[in-house]
Amino acid sequence: MSDQQISPNAILYRGNITQQHREKLLGQKGLALWFTGLSGSGKSTIAHAVEDRLHALSHLTYVFDGDNVRHGLCGDLSFSTEARAENNRRIAEMLRLFLDAGIICLAAFISPMRADRQRIRDIVGEEKLLEIFVHCPVAECERRDVKGLYKLARAGKIKNYTGISAPYEEPQNAALVLETHEETVEDCVEKVLRLVLSRQ
Ligand code: ADX
Repeated sequence: MSDQQISPNAILYRGNITQQHREKLLGQKGLALWFTGLSGSGKSTIAHAVEDRLHALSHLTYVFDGDNVRHGLCGDLSFSTEARAENNRRIAEMLRLFLDAGIICLAAFISPMRADRQRIRDIVGEEKLLEIFVHCPVAECERRDVKGLYKLARAGKIKNYTGISAPYEEPQNAALVLETHEETVEDCVEKVLRLVLSRQ
């Protein structure tokens, strides 16, 4: 789907209460963490663990998870290149709204294409987005195969499977790179937490 606006008579309404008002009320700054990496690399595990820690520190958070939103908001999308781009675009637009609400957002999506991740940055705004590369070699993700999907992909029962039969373009300028085949979940969570808190 393109970025073109096809409802030109929808006029933006600006209320009196701004993002700054909401952030003041919450005592935090809205921020989006975008976790990208292969399926099974640990994106969701780390995002949820960071959320636990932030919640314990009284921060308002929300996790957007690829598998979860594909049951609802993005339930109509496949795993073609175009559908993944649309999936990532919709989430970026959601993030924009949640940031306006002052919330700390954690988004965990494979988001395999560099151009799609650049578009996310364009939609959300460079200063509000931190890209986190959750790196794990495909062989290790396949060994973990938590959901059993790599096995199905190898058997040809799932088409366009990232890392097996569809590409993953590694980020070149991520704010943080986590090596989940070498570092513990706790170490990764600490690193992300430090980064978030340095932006508060
Ligand atoms: S993305 O590429 O559009 O960003 P997303 O993060 O929403 O992907 O969904 C990835 C999850 O969908 C994976 O963790 C996996 O459980 C499941 N999945 C099902 N089919 C595929 C596929 N062909 N490629 C990758 N993941 C798939």
